[in-house]
Amino acid sequence: MAITIDRNDTQLIDVPRGLTNVVVAETAIGDVRGEEGFFHYRGVSGVELAAEARFEDAWNLVALGGLPRDGAESAAFRARTASARAIPESLHGSLSSIATSALDPMAQLRTGLALISSADGRRALYDETETERSDDAIRLAAVAPTLIAALHRWSTGQDPIEPDGDLDPVTDYLRMLTGVTPDIRLATALGTYLTAAIDHGFNASTFTARVIASTGADLASCVGGALGALSGPLHGGAPARTLDMLDDIGAPERADAWVRERVQHGGRIMGFGHAVYRTEDPRSRLLRGVAQRLRADGLATDRVDLAVTVEQTVLRVLDELKPGRALRTNVELYAAVVMEACGIPRELFTPTFASARLIGWGAHACEQVQDGKILRPSSRYVGAASRPR
Ligand SMILES: CC(C)(COP(=O)(O)OP(=O)(O)OC[C@H]1O[C@@H](n2cnc3c(N)ncnc32)[C@H](O)[C@@H]1OP(=O)(O)O)[C@@H](O)C(=O)NCCC(=O)NCCS
Repeated sequence: MAITIDRNDTQLIDVPRGLTNVVVAETAIGDVRGEEGFFHYRGVSGVELAAEARFEDAWNLVALGGLPRDGAESAAFRARTASARAIPESLHGSLSSIATSALDPMAQLRTGLALISSADGRRALYDETETERSDDAIRLAAVAPTLIAALHRWSTGQDPIEPDGDLDPVTDYLRMLTGVTPDIRLATALGTYLTAAIDHGFNASTFTARVIASTGADLASCVGGALGALSGPLHGGAPARTLDMLDDIGAPERADAWVRERVQHGGRIMGFGHAVYRTEDPRSRLLRGVAQRLRADGLATDRVDLAVTVEQTVLRVLDELKPGRALRTNVELYAAVVMEACGIPRELFTPTFASARLIGWGAHACEQVQDGKILRPSSRYVGAASRPR
């Protein structure tokens, strides 16, 4: 039979560019409803959880399927995660070398988690029991904040600070990073953000984690791929760039010209637009309120005021230049403002975001591997029909 390069396979199905609206799996973990401006974890509103629940309880919900039923269950989960926070002493040498290498913080986190996972003796998800997979997921999410803080301290010539299991994970993260036990209002503000960042539908990094999990690979590989996807400026790499933008704009009256210039040259305004939301991102509204409260309490600078006034101009100019697109503020602008107020260095914004999203990735990877079907789509070849050998 003659083989032609052009493929005329009647089984191929074309899907929309970007896989928009394509359902590739079933999940019981959560969902995003773009038209309504709503997202949830296992049926519980993400915004309500972020505003009212403790970070660890939302973690319990996503990882184990339900909110703790009472104080004892809540304490048991907290103890389980607290005991998973420490970095093995034997890895300090390699990790401190990674911290002072040329790798950026996201690549350091990826490498560090792979090292820890392998030192823990973790295996391919394919070979593990459901309990072992759940332990893997809790371990990686629990140790990530310790690792981010330790890598940062090594990279700045300081000794890492051991985790303190008596503290809640958010307070402990800020303490390990800065060396100071934070004001409770700052820890609460960061906890609100991190709770809202645990999961968010089939975003690019979660989908990446699930693709890797579908091969049966180990969880650190799933998370490593997801971290790579998250690092991109169109996804989780945006928050630091939103502060760069505010720095660049400098004063509200310069915003109009700055945005026009950027968009007219084909650029994107970081912190605006969303692949799913067609209304305001509910996380943006939530975090704007958090930032404004910190400002009113004297815990944030006039950065908050600048963000609020610049936001209005950006929205007006985007409406004019991209009519009909419904580009609204996404989570990243106020996430950045809140993280800055909490004393988190700009280069750690995306790793900090990742430390919460790791909970979602872990749950998704465990769910996907149970399905047992490898994710393996097709492409349509559009290259040269033939070329000389
Ligand atoms: C999030 C994002 C990747 C979603 O992308 P998407 O789903 O492909 O975007 P849309 O389909 O809504 O974009 C349609 C149009 O709006 C434009 N657009 C989208 N976001 C924009 C932004 N932030 N600034 C300027 N233009 C934007 C696109 O360029 C496109 O214009 P065109 O059709 O004239 O080429 C995109 O909005 C973006 O790049 N935002 C900035 C980065 C960011 O903040 N990411 C964090 C997301 S939580």
